[in-house]
Amino acid sequence: MLDGRLEKILSVFEGKKGALISILQRVQEEYGYLPQEALAEIAGYLKLPASQVFSVATFYAHFHLARRGDHLVKVCQGTACHVRGARDILETAQYRLGIKTGQTTEDYKYSLERVACLGSCALAPIMVVDDTVYPQVTMKKIIEILNNNKDDASKKDTESKKS
Ligand code: FES
Repeated sequence: MLDGRLEKILSVFEGKKGALISILQRVQEEYGYLPQEALAEIAGYLKLPASQVFSVATFYAHFHLARRGDHLVKVCQGTACHVRGARDILETAQYRLGIKTGQTTEDYKYSLERVACLGSCALAPIMVVDDTVYPQVTMKKIIEILNNNKDDASKKDTESKKS
């Protein structure tokens, strides 16, 4: 059973079937992904077949059906980044995080994705962590970036446990 957040989101849309995508977006903003239970409840609320809700949720790459990490690491694999070593960058990120592309670390701190051209080819190869773009990354820089983020994440954990 989900908490009251879903109910609150649904109440805003007053059962409008055309609001399915907006509801899915709001639910993902709230939970970070689309929990299976939420999809079932949304289907019931909008009186739509569950298969329809599921197919919309899986059609758009923007939606995620599994819980993701607190930090999203994206490594560009577009052509310009590729010729400047993006494959090695991705492999280093996988090694450092201990996960494969598309996976999330066991502690839910990081998810790792490969992405197509981010539109900043002159700065290739590029890695993005959350909203921060790291241009011309090297394997050494990746280790530093991920170590710094890990430290930040640990600090946040410690601070939130204190309060
Ligand atoms: S190919 Fe990576 S930013 Fe364009």
